[in-house]
This record gives sequence, C-alpha cells and structure tokens, in this order.
Amino acid sequence: MAKSTPAFTCSACGAAHRKWAGRCDACGAWNTIVEEAPLSAGPGAKSLGAQRGRTIELTDLATEEAPPPRAISGIDELDRVLGGGLVPASALLVGGDPGIGKSTLLLQAAAAFARSGLGCLYVSGEEASAQVRMRAARLGLADAPVRLGAETNLRDILTTLDAERPALAIIDSIQTMWSDSVDSAPGSVAQVRAACHELVSFAKRRGTSVILVGHVTKDGQIAGPRVVEHMVDTVLYFEGERGHQFRILRAVKNRFGAADEIGVFEMTGQGLAQVTNPSALFLSERGQASPGSAVFAGIEGTRPVLTEIQALVAPSPLGTPRRTVVGLDAGRLSTILAVLEARCGIPFAGLDVFLNVAGGMRVSEPAADLAVAAAILSAREDAALPPDMVLFGEISLSGALRPVAQTENRLKEARKLGFSQAVAPARSKTGAEDGMRVRQMQDLTAFVGEIFGA
Ligand code: TYD
Ligand code: MG
Repeated sequence: MAKSTPAFTCSACGAAHRKWAGRCDACGAWNTIVEEAPLSAGPGAKSLGAQRGRTIELTDLATEEAPPPRAISGIDELDRVLGGGLVPASALLVGGDPGIGKSTLLLQAAAAFARSGLGCLYVSGEEASAQVRMRAARLGLADAPVRLGAETNLRDILTTLDAERPALAIIDSIQTMWSDSVDSAPGSVAQVRAACHELVSFAKRRGTSVILVGHVTKDGQIAGPRVVEHMVDTVLYFEGERGHQFRILRAVKNRFGAADEIGVFEMTGQGLAQVTNPSALFLSERGQASPGSAVFAGIEGTRPVLTEIQALVAPSPLGTPRRTVVGLDAGRLSTILAVLEARCGIPFAGLDVFLNVAGGMRVSEPAADLAVAAAILSAREDAALPPDMVLFGEISLSGALRPVAQTENRLKEARKLGFSQAVAPARSKTGAEDGMRVRQMQDLTAFVGEIFGA
C-alpha cells in the first residue's frame, strides 16, 4: 500500500507523479513538481466497520424542514455568479493572480453580507487586523459589522470558528494556512489540501459557509488553487488584464448555479465597482468602423455580452507565418483558417494572423467562430464590416454554420446597444425583433459571397 503512494506532486495542478520531471505532463507547467512526504494513514484508518455511519432515506429528506434560503449580498454581480446568492454550508474557492483584487473583493463581500444580517468572520493570514481595517476604511466599510482575525494556524482558526459560529468565514489565503498534523511547509500541496479538507468538512458539519482565497502561483514551491478545486462546491476565478481597470469574476464550477457565469467589476480608488452593462464597456474602445473589426454577440453564463473581435492579417517575413491569439483559443483560430482555405478557397499561406478580443475579455464560446472569421476576412480584404452589424454562429469543419443557443437574447442585447443588423446561422430561432435586420446564412461560402462579394 505504502509503495504505491506517489512521492511527487505537481503544485500547479495536483497531478501525482512517480518520479521527478522538469515538466508536468498533466498541465504542461515547468518546474512545478515537488517531492512530498507520503500522508500517514492516521489513527482512524482502521475504523471501517467498527461503527456504522448514520444514513438517511432520500424520501425522508423532503419531510425535513426546507433548507435555509440563500444569503444575498446586494452586490448583484457577485450574487449572480454565485447562482443567486450564497448557499448555506457551502465551500467556495476564489482563485486569481496575486494583486488582482481578491482581498478587496472579499472584504467588500464580507461587509455586504454582514450588513444584510449575516455573521461574517474574515480571517487574514497575510495582513494584520490593523491593515485589514485600514483597507476597509479606504473602501468606506469601516463601520461594517465584520469580525476580523489574523491567524494562520488551522487548529486555532477551527477553534475560533467553532466558538463564534459565523454564518460565513472568509479565509485569505489558503496558502498561508498550516496544520500541525501535516509535516511540511505552509503552502505545500499537502498543507493546502489538508487545510482545505478541514475547512470544507467544518463547513458541512457546522453549517458555516467558507470562502477560501487561493493565489494562482507561477512558482513550484507554492501549491496553486487547482489542487483543491475538486474539494469545494464552487470555484470562482477573478481575472483581469494588466493595464485594464476591469476585473471579471468567473464561475468555472458551481454545484448551485450556472458555470461560466460572469460578474464584471471595475477597480477604482475606492475598491471594486460593479459594471452593470459590460457590453457598453467592452465596446467603448471601438472607434470608427475599421477593417479587421467584428462585433460578436455572445452569452456569458445567463447574460448576453457583446465584444469586439479584432484581427490583423499581414504578409509574413517568416517561413512559418505567425498565429497570435489573445483572449480566444488558439486551436479554434487554426480550425477557422483551415476551413476558410479548404471550403472557401481563401489562402493564408505566407500571411501572419493576429487575433485579439478587445478590452482583455476572454471568449470561449464556439458561437464566436463566425465573428472571428468575419474579422479575419475583413482584415485580409481590407474592407470594414458595417459598423451596426453583430455576428454569431459556430462554424463546422464542412464550412456549414450551426445555430447556437439563445439567439433571441443575443439579438435583444445588440438591439439595446444600437446595432441594427445581424448575421446568424440558418434555422436560428429568431423572434420578431423589430428594427433588427437578421440575415440567416447556410454556410461560410454564402457568408463570404454576400458580405465580401467574393
Ligand atoms: P488585493 O485585493 O490586495 O489583491 P489580492 O488579494 O488579489 O492579492 O488588491 C491589490 C491591488 O488593488 C493593488 O494593486 C491596489 C489595488 N487597489 C485599488 O486600486 N483600489 C483599492 O481601493 C484597493 C483596496 C486596492
Ligand atoms: Mg490578498
């Protein structure tokens, strides 16, 4: 048994390896594999069969009292990402790069929940209570009824939680916590897992919701949040581009709501402000109609969001032309270029292609294919698309356009922002959207012919 215990673990993704390697096969990160002390079996390991655990009939559950309702913070962008508020006794992980604003977001969330009557304890392992208070004062939250703690010892934290029984405990950050039952340094994979396990089981046992903050790390010595993603109910990532003020809170896993839901915030001098109309923000940088720009009517979670896709196509001085992508999947670009070449006879050999989603947004929907193709063609032909046009549709390998979900919502959002024509796949379920001219197209060849007259 002991022999099969893997002795090496990737600190970025948690994959187990039998021997050390420079690069992790599972996630591709370099220098993240570290040796780990094997976990001891512990005193409880032989208790199987000694005492029967309590089970309950599923049908009995219905007769028990209804679960307490979700707690609403009043910060709409946050409540929506949570799936409509915070579920009692749930465990959440909020990951993000250092300095992106996790502590700021969670302090604001703690204050908002506390003001709505939820008992909140904010435990910081990185800052002294006085520093947290200073930050709170800067955010205008000095009078919020939040309890603060500055502690890193897990046993002390659990004792405090047990005594105080807050409805919500925020642990900032999971990498600073250490448990004396694990024989390795704070921040190691074993420590981070042990701390997460203890806090999550406390949450389930005592009905306290816990929010764990996890720094995304580049360095192999500190474990990243991915190693505990499987232990929690909800995983949120707080993202943003350097040089941009806005931040996106994205649900990548949620047992209690839609995954892929996003909340948009802007970092200001007084903390994070909600952005209630992200489409307007993402399109605000758009100037005059110019070649290489296409507006994609997308859906993020349950909400329509318009983004501008920008492309640049230029003769390449290199033998292998460049394909540079920011904010989209690079594999998708290759596929779309291949379809344009093979099905529409438009060659890209000898041409560099650069693709970018304006404003630092990240788009993962296949429905963006048509807008990507349109931006690339517009750049290649040096012909601007009509400025009041939005596009959406998935491109199949045959070049056909596949209908996508929520067509009506996409069109409605576009209409609201002043767009008056749309290109959509044939057989899309469009409602009567007055003032909107919707052109439905069978395939990419028809699209190229109609829009670019080729
Ligand atoms: P922080 O929440 O400490 O990041 P994290 O916990 O993810 O490491 O945020 C740090 C950054 O946010 C820092 O660069 C300063 C900026 N900031 C503001 O711009 N305005 C503010 O009101 C606050 C509190 C921070
Ligand atoms: Mg912090």
